[in-house]
Amino acid sequence: MNEPLIPILPDTAPFTREQRAYLNGFFAGLYSRSAAPQGSPQDAPLPALVPLTILFGSQTGNAETLARRIAKEAGKRAFAPTIHDLGKYALHQLAGERALLLITSTFGDGDPPDNAKAFWEALKGGSAPGLAELRFSVCALGDSTYPRFCEFGKRADERLQKLGGLRVHPRADCDVDFETPFAAWLEGALSALATADAPRAVPFTATTPPTTIPTAKTGTYSRAHPFPAPLLFNRRLNGEGSAKDTRHLAFGLADSGLAYEAGDALGVRPTNCPRLADEVTTALHCSGDEPVPGRDGAETTLREALVRDYELTRIPQALLQSVADQSGDKALQGLLAPGTNGELAKYLHGREIVDLLGSHPSVSFAPRPFVALLRKLQPRLYSIASSLKAHPGEVHLCVGVVRYESLGRPRQGVCSTYLSDRVPDRAAVPVFVHQNKNFRLPPDPDTPIIMVGPGTGIAPFRAFLEERRTVGAGGANWLFFGDQRAATDFLFREELEAMQREGVLSRMDVAFSRDQAAKVYVQDRMREYAREIFEWLEEGAAFYVCGDASRMAKDVDAALHELVGTAGGMSPEQSAGYVAALKKARRYQRDVY
Ligand SMILES: Cc1cc2nc3c(=O)[nH]c(=O)nc-3n(C[C@H](O)[C@H](O)[C@H](O)COP(=O)(O)OP(=O)(O)OC[C@H]3O[C@@H](n4cnc5c(N)ncnc54)[C@H](O)[C@@H]3O)c2cc1C
Ligand SMILES: NC(=O)c1ccc[n+]([C@@H]2O[C@H](COP(=O)([O-])OP(=O)(O)OC[C@H]3O[C@@H](n4cnc5c(N)ncnc54)[C@H](OP(=O)(O)O)[C@@H]3O)[C@@H](O)[C@H]2O)c1
Ligand SMILES: Cc1cc2nc3c(=O)[nH]c(=O)nc-3n(C[C@H](O)[C@H](O)[C@H](O)COP(=O)(O)O)c2cc1C
Repeated sequence: MNEPLIPILPDTAPFTREQRAYLNGFFAGLYSRSAAPQGSPQDAPLPALVPLTILFGSQTGNAETLARRIAKEAGKRAFAPTIHDLGKYALHQLAGERALLLITSTFGDGDPPDNAKAFWEALKGGSAPGLAELRFSVCALGDSTYPRFCEFGKRADERLQKLGGLRVHPRADCDVDFETPFAAWLEGALSALATADAPRAVPFTATTPPTTIPTAKTGTYSRAHPFPAPLLFNRRLNGEGSAKDTRHLAFGLADSGLAYEAGDALGVRPTNCPRLADEVTTALHCSGDEPVPGRDGAETTLREALVRDYELTRIPQALLQSVADQSGDKALQGLLAPGTNGELAKYLHGREIVDLLGSHPSVSFAPRPFVALLRKLQPRLYSIASSLKAHPGEVHLCVGVVRYESLGRPRQGVCSTYLSDRVPDRAAVPVFVHQNKNFRLPPDPDTPIIMVGPGTGIAPFRAFLEERRTVGAGGANWLFFGDQRAATDFLFREELEAMQREGVLSRMDVAFSRDQAAKVYVQDRMREYAREIFEWLEEGAAFYVCGDASRMAKDVDAALHELVGTAGGMSPEQSAGYVAALKKARRYQRDVY
């Protein structure tokens, strides 16, 4: 029997009749071209591929990674995909687009990620172009424990439609466990674009811009298959009497094949505190031996699943809804009504699953339906605090241990206390490298840098300084560090002072907030040295910020704008333009959390 040698697209393939005919013609031409004489009718024109623009807005790399997946998948279909970082994409380009997929996270308090901020300002402004020709779909990444879940993706989606774009496939709002909704959205969006009224198709010739599909780094170990890295040491960085508990941890990477660059983060997959899992088991009136599906669907015991697989400290909306429905609790039902986001966030703050179950003893769950309402336990990211060149085969972290009290009970952050308290020496911790291309040393080692990193924000700057020392980089390095008290909280003090003596750290200014009556923060020091900072910027310095996102990073950003205005003699609009230009030139980068 003669098998067809030429693949022919079936009638069910997601293309218009014309596209199918065209592609079938192309395949036919391609398969017989080698045998056909030059210039014969077989030397058919190349196929029309639909140009597809993929835009990503990403702070910590998830959307960027998924953008590459979109391009790879689109490339297998009748598309010619091109990926753009929103930070490098000008608004006027949008007017010329016909097919667009936007994937973006939300950051801060419902804000765009840093690389999307300037684009968003332009897009929402009055001079944004009409987009009557545009067919688009948006994939929003977020975390439903934030009150403004996927807010930026939602707003961008609305705005594209308002400007005249045609939404060919509904937006996906993906929670932290984005794999399944992302895959479903991608399938739907590509099919819709392929079948939507054929967007302008261009022949796929040598003059077509090449698809920019960076090859994803492949390695044996990844987020899905973390490397069991032995804990080499776990050292407390704060002195006796400190209110804080910050740890310097090191892990072995020998034989893992894992590599990282200064600026990358390490993903850690923690387990819950077994005591907390026991409390939840008791609240469910279970023994813990009941069979339930684990995170990967494989059968395990309830106890094991609660320790290893599911998030116990944050209350998922589905569980809250189920408790509200079963209990008939009017207050809870009110919180879940649309438009009461602020109240819901207040209720959830400092409240864990065990509190919710304890306050609704009439509600009962069988183990299986209970775990079906939980979110999978997520890995946590930590900015890497070492240079691989300075510590071959090792990776170091600087972790602030989260402990607080709420509703009269002591609470523990899952991962930070897993690392500080529950991993024995030399025991293996599941880790993976999370690339952060948005936080990189300048390519030219002679470029000066200014680093602002209070508290655990020091982590990537220890890596930067080690890296620059090891490679003998010529650029000057200026660090602003701060924490509560100099006597107990001057993290990595000896190392930093040694680097100052060696001349690697050209300048260090510190702000210890609680050593005097009035608080002093890193941005106060920045204001004191406004003129010098501005001079460094004028000489080409890059400016980096790492640490707390909710307060510090915002205040430092405001101080930067202010000092550019005062030292550079600029109006607020001019200094905003100056800072925006720094960002665009990748000379203002942030790693904030
Ligand atoms: C890119 C990136 C880099 C990071 N780098 C670092 C780093 O270098 N070092 C570092 O220490 N962390 C870093 N983090 C933060 C880290 O990922 C974790 O979020 C942090 O360790 C807390 O995780 P956890 O599991 O211990 O706490 P969780 O169990 O996740 O609990 C934290 C939650 O507890 C709640 N909470 C905390 N304090 C209170 C309070 N007083 N009252 C009520 N509720 C409260 C809040 O809801 C908070 O979100 C980084 C995060 C990102 C995204
Ligand atoms: N949710 C919370 O209430 C809370 C509280 C603390 C930390 N955290 C989180 O815990 C993690 C680790 O914290 P960390 O140890 O890295 O350090 P941190 O808590 O950010 O503190 C480091 C230093 O920054 C100061 N600081 C506080 N507010 C500031 C502001 N607006 N601008 C500049 N500096 C400011 C602190 O001063 P003071 O402490 O004296 O004000 C301290 O001296 C971070 O993710 C942080 O977001 C959360
Ligand atoms: C500091 C911080 C703030 C965040 N704020 C929000 C938010 O307001 N709304 C939301 O839905 N998700 C929020 N997220 C979750 C991110 O959007 C989510 O982790 C996403 O997968 C990140 O994608 P990215 O790596 O492409 O930036 C926040 C995450 C962090 C670390």
